[in-house]
Amino acid sequence: MIKSKTAANGFAAGTPWVYTDIVKEHFLNPRNFLMGDETKYQADGKGIVGNPICGDQMLMMIQVEAKKNPKTGKKESIIKDVKWKTYGCASAIASTSALSELAKGKTLDSALKISAEEIESYLGGLPKHKFHCSVLGHEALASAIQDYRNHH
Ligand code: FES
Repeated sequence: MIKSKTAANGFAAGTPWVYTDIVKEHFLNPRNFLMGDETKYQADGKGIVGNPICGDQMLMMIQVEAKKNPKTGKKESIIKDVKWKTYGCASAIASTSALSELAKGKTLDSALKISAEEIESYLGGLPKHKFHCSVLGHEALASAIQDYRNHH
């Protein structure tokens, strides 16, 4: 384990520089990452957000389908597919990869309730000073859902 010697960028000297194996795996093999031209993806909703802390950006697109809930018999809007890309860092990539997996198959309302803590737990933890990166994907997803609702 490498320990930082300086208190650069606001985190304390001695803070361990550690990503969990799950974070590393999602960073190296991000799920639902959009390869190529986003205009070729048939999105039902699209959100682009920026992180005011670091200036990074995230694009998220969703496909939505109506499905009957077997318990209630009512039709619900379900996230059928998610695609995303970002200028963000390893934490943002791993967090959004996890979020995209958690969001698929959920109703729009349930997907909006996925918390940063849930993503962090899915990844086995994130360094505290990188927590703001995990919010980027969630905000992009909320923006994509809002975009879908504005047009349907
Ligand atoms: S530093 Fe910008 S998203 Fe992590």
